[in-house]
Amino acid sequence: MHLASCLLTILALGLSLCGASPAPSRHVVHESRSSIPTGWSPVRRADQDIVLPLRIGLVQPNIHKVEEYLMEVSHPQSPGYGKHWTPAEVGHAFRPSKEAVDVVRSWLLMSALGADRIRMTNDGTWIRVYVTVKEAEKLLGTEYYVYEKETEGEVIACADKYHLPEHVSGHVELVTPTLQFDFKHKRRAAEKRDRPPPSKLWRGIPTSNVSPASSAVAQVNGPVENITEQLSACGEQITPACLQLLYNFTDFTPQVPGNNSIAIVELTPNAYLASDLDMFFANFSPSQVGERPIFVSIDGGVVQTTTESLDDNVESDLDLQYAMALVGPTQNVTLLQAGDLVEGASPNDVLDALDASYCTYEGGDDPNLDPVYPDPDGGYQGKARTRHDCGTAPLPNVLSFSYSSAEAYFTPAYMERMCNEFAKLGLMGVTVLWSTGDYGVATFGDCLDAAGDLGSGTDYTTFSPSFPATCPYVTGVGATQINTTSTRTMESAAYEPGKLSSGGGFSNIFALPSYQQTVVQDYLTNYPPPYSSSVYNSSGNSRAYPDLSANGVRYTVAADGEWLSVYGTSASTPVIASFFTAINDARIAAGKSSIGFINPTIYSSSFQAAFNDITDGSNPGCGTQGFYAEPGWDPVTGIGTPNVAMLRDLWLELQ
Ligand SMILES: *[C@@H]1O[C@H](CO)[C@@H](O)[C@H](O)[C@H]1NC(C)=O
Ligand SMILES: *[C@@H]1O[C@H](CO)[C@@H](O)[C@H](O)[C@H]1NC(C)=O
Ligand SMILES: *[C@@H]1O[C@H](CO)[C@@H](O)[C@H](O)[C@H]1NC(C)=O
Ligand SMILES: *[C@@H]1O[C@H](CO)[C@@H](O)[C@H](O)[C@H]1NC(C)=O
Ligand SMILES: *[C@@H]1O[C@H](CO)[C@@H](O)[C@H](O)[C@H]1NC(C)=O
Ligand SMILES: *[C@@H]1O[C@H](CO)[C@@H](O)[C@H](O)[C@H]1NC(C)=O
Repeated sequence: MHLASCLLTILALGLSLCGASPAPSRHVVHESRSSIPTGWSPVRRADQDIVLPLRIGLVQPNIHKVEEYLMEVSHPQSPGYGKHWTPAEVGHAFRPSKEAVDVVRSWLLMSALGADRIRMTNDGTWIRVYVTVKEAEKLLGTEYYVYEKETEGEVIACADKYHLPEHVSGHVELVTPTLQFDFKHKRRAAEKRDRPPPSKLWRGIPTSNVSPASSAVAQVNGPVENITEQLSACGEQITPACLQLLYNFTDFTPQVPGNNSIAIVELTPNAYLASDLDMFFANFSPSQVGERPIFVSIDGGVVQTTTESLDDNVESDLDLQYAMALVGPTQNVTLLQAGDLVEGASPNDVLDALDASYCTYEGGDDPNLDPVYPDPDGGYQGKARTRHDCGTAPLPNVLSFSYSSAEAYFTPAYMERMCNEFAKLGLMGVTVLWSTGDYGVATFGDCLDAAGDLGSGTDYTTFSPSFPATCPYVTGVGATQINTTSTRTMESAAYEPGKLSSGGGFSNIFALPSYQQTVVQDYLTNYPPPYSSSVYNSSGNSRAYPDLSANGVRYTVAADGEWLSVYGTSASTPVIASFFTAINDARIAAGKSSIGFINPTIYSSSFQAAFNDITDGSNPGCGTQGFYAEPGWDPVTGIGTPNVAMLRDLWLELQ
């Protein structure tokens, strides 16, 4: 495919022979790609008069400093520790400069696009202008083509690169639609969706089977007389009391519940059943019968009872039963329920609701991967001005996502955008927890081939890193199980064939963060995994996960009126969220900040000593044994499972 001949002329002669651009500025390549995404092929040039909603995402001036800012408020040795930012301060720090807006505007004006056509978003992060393909080709020095893929239909995208004047390029993050394969050709409102629903990409549903007799359930909730006996009962059935015992969490009564917060995210159709919460509480925390989470609806989110099945109910029942029982009756738990029954939701719906500026950051969510509002398929019709929920949900101190996906499903830009937002939440004092998935070094059972595509079979032998656990600004939570033969900690990495293999490994996208440098290098040096660099990112330069873990095996859960035995990092994540909520309570009561982004703190040697180091087991997947748990941090259980009372005492010593 050849580049626009018009553009070559500009570059060769240094002046414009083929357009209205009088700017003397040199054009530079702004973005390029080396190959067309798998399965797509160009079918023809795009008609010159098709109208494109051109969106120009302006550079956020300080985004390259987001890590530095985050470390200032999160590193235990930093004088700024705990001095979290307000949402207004975050908005201000990352708002594009007036200069950027002016430069881009005057370039568009000089390109003969009238001022009445140029629109700016309220938060000033992007500029929108409707242009024909002909105008876009001239502006960007490229050619637009219609591309086709059998299962996905047609998209309009430009050839291998596009250009901007040199003086404009530095102020622009990206322009869409250009290289992304997400601008549907002639997508009509009535057309059936031809992209996968978010629920295919984001999964949490833990596996479960019917529990042994529920009469056994009550027994393990008694006073502790013989720890060995009690723990071996917990090995059969986990209950809230087991987790209190395992993790030194026996003495928690909230002191300032009204000043503290924890939120559990659920993506519809996942929903809890009120009768299941009461069945659980009646057994394990009788004073909580009748208690419900504080409900916050995002983008049409409903606690649906239209369809009731284990797939619909286990996740939410599990998350809420354990989080609510562990923080107890006086601490409210907020439920962020995202998405309606038609469209479902992606985590981006939740981030938009927590931070209004995310709605438009870098041109907003990806219409190919995130729900679109008003929903063309008849779901949530949205709000008049913003179209969907932006900045409508309260920021919690701890945010728990029992979902996971794969790096391989997304583009680097999509993941970096979401990951930067997690950093901003950290800046505002939010602890963001993500489960690392239940398939070991694989994703939902699939692995990567040489081209980086997910699938199963003999060609798919490369480990598939989980996302967003590989984002360096979230805390990834793995799973363990009781193993009373294992010395010292009585836990090993969670592995139960067909049910759970704790997600862990090394990113292909994100670089190794400073807080993890020592432990990751120690692991790779002392316990080199027996795999080549074609099997996993062995460079030693990439973000590794999980960060920590908690028990995730044989949770006793009431779901659809039955007692179930449930397995998953979906279970360990809300449990960890409850523990950090208790630590926040102690700090807030002492007049201190929430713990916010915890990774730089928990990797310090004094805090690592307050975790049980898990040294047995591995996380099989992709036809291998996966990685092995070893002394110190490992890509199976992270730095281990928490000793909550010890951690609380350490966190109280920080400013
Ligand atoms: C606790 O129970 C185990 C197993 O039943 C038994 O071997 C051990 O002696 C008991 N320990 C105490 C202190 O009673
Ligand atoms: C918990 O939520 C309920 C219902 O909104 C409210 O009445 C109560 O005051 C809240 N408790 C605390 C401690 O904030
Ligand atoms: C349990 O611990 C023992 C002793 O350390 C170990 O040999 C065994 O592999 C562990 N079991 C699992 C399932 O990890
Ligand atoms: C390994 O990770 C680094 C940092 O994230 C990345 O730059 C590199 O491309 C990755 N290598 C492979 C083979 O994915
Ligand atoms: C808790 O919140 C109340 C009301 O906002 C405030 O008056 C009180 O000082 C707070 N207490 C602590 C310990 O932060
Ligand atoms: C639990 O934490 C307390 C407080 O730090 C500590 O004194 C105690 O030894 C811990 N118990 C266990 C079993 O680790």
